[in-house]
Amino acid sequence: MKLKFGSVEENVVTREEFPLEKAREVLKDEVIAVLGYGVQGPGQALNLKDNGFNVIVGQRKGSKTWDKAIADGWVPGETLFELEEACERGTILQFLLSDAGQIALWPTVKKYLTPGKALYFSHGFGITYKEKTGIIPPADVDVILVAPKGSGTSLRRMFVEGRGLNSSFAIYQDATGKAKDRVIALGIGVGSGYLFETDFYREVTSDLTGERGTLMGAIQGIFAAQYEVLRANGHSPSEAFNETVEELTQSLMPLVAENGMDWMYANCSTTAQRGALDWWKPFRDATKPVFEELYNSVKSGKEAQKSIDSNSKPDYREKLEAELKELRESEMWQAGATVRKLRPENN
Ligand SMILES: NC(=O)c1ccc[n+]([C@@H]2O[C@H](COP(=O)([O-])OP(=O)(O)OC[C@H]3O[C@@H](n4cnc5c(N)ncnc54)[C@H](OP(=O)(O)O)[C@@H]3O)[C@@H](O)[C@H]2O)c1
Repeated sequence: MKLKFGSVEENVVTREEFPLEKAREVLKDEVIAVLGYGVQGPGQALNLKDNGFNVIVGQRKGSKTWDKAIADGWVPGETLFELEEACERGTILQFLLSDAGQIALWPTVKKYLTPGKALYFSHGFGITYKEKTGIIPPADVDVILVAPKGSGTSLRRMFVEGRGLNSSFAIYQDATGKAKDRVIALGIGVGSGYLFETDFYREVTSDLTGERGTLMGAIQGIFAAQYEVLRANGHSPSEAFNETVEELTQSLMPLVAENGMDWMYANCSTTAQRGALDWWKPFRDATKPVFEELYNSVKSGKEAQKSIDSNSKPDYREKLEAELKELRESEMWQAGATVRKLRPENN
């Protein structure tokens, strides 16, 4: 159905339009091979299984992840296979390895992409940056995408609670004429609520911008800047942390999620309201050039290249751990650890 977002009309698919029974009918002869059992793999594979689809998992043996798949009920030789065997058995290959892992496994996956199969992604990365990733699918397979707008953990958790996470979907290549039915059926099958239409390029550029921006990069930057100013002016760590992070995550953001920002502004003290109205535009103006620089870096492929280079290195995990340690051991997040312990529900 067409829905208005502000004044812009967009195409959205709902579960009412495309019910689960229809999805089951569309995919009744397919073997869905979920390749990779990291974060998205378990959420999507378990939801598909519980929704009654024919699913197998492909995972390399001898890693903890293989044991995790067994613990979740996948049976070696029946529903759990080595990656190569899963590629052979599957008619729809859900490529859910890490983006760097996808580059490494691509030659194997490609070998098994016989005519009529479908290659499914949850991120536009591999295809959009194909010159860098080498992921160039043959012309006679469908290439589709369902990207849940959240972590695989939330996808599963919300499914178990009887809710759904919204996803975007896209078609890069429709070789069989069935790509649209296949992608929507898979989107419903993995537990999506609503499905928003996009394309691979727009999915990856918005996603890379968002995670580097307000979702994670910018928010930590703004937290750090405010915390440092408060500390430099003699406020205690607990006071600085509470006014920077705790109140936002515990009290305000759930309300903004429910009601929008104008409601939040209307339902705070008049003092807070005046200040917030006066200051949001200077913050927008100060940060907008950084967002422009970020978007250009995403658009030019520089961000993708940096991710590929750093995530393909053998010492990737050690380097990552050192960077996370710096964050964890910063005074702000040390203060955060203590504040979290003091939440009434944790006592
Ligand atoms: N994380 C999310 O919630 C999320 C949200 C939306 C979209 N996505 C997209 O979904 C896809 C999967 O992401 P993810 O976060 O679930 O990935 P992830 O947790 O990083 O994936 C890890 C999986 O990839 C396997 N793997 C990594 N390198 C490999 C290699 N060289 N050879 C064989 N297997 C390898 C791992 O096996 P081992 O454990 O044996 O190393 C594991 O099964 C990505 O395209 C991502 O952008 C993710």
